[in-house]
Amino acid sequence: MKKKITICMGSSCFTRGNKDNLKIIQDYLKDYDSAEIVLTGSLCKEQCSNGPVIYLDDTMYSCLDTAQLTDLLDSFVKEPSTMESK
Ligand code: FES
Repeated sequence: MKKKITICMGSSCFTRGNKDNLKIIQDYLKDYDSAEIVLTGSLCKEQCSNGPVIYLDDTMYSCLDTAQLTDLLDSFVKEPSTMESK
């Protein structure tokens, strides 16, 4: 099962930080097999007041700074997929 990263590309999230977060995620994923991890953009998730929001599989994360995002990607990308055992 592929892991899924979804970044909100709605205008609020985009201007509140996902413009930079998108670049960070794209750079981070250059070292990983795209068959394992899929990155997609989404329209507004109606969570603007919590933005910028990013989803790792179905879990929402908000207001991440660069260091937090990198730490989160490290643990998400490197941990074995939990979806397969369900
Ligand atoms: S723009 Fe991202 S939740 Fe609305």
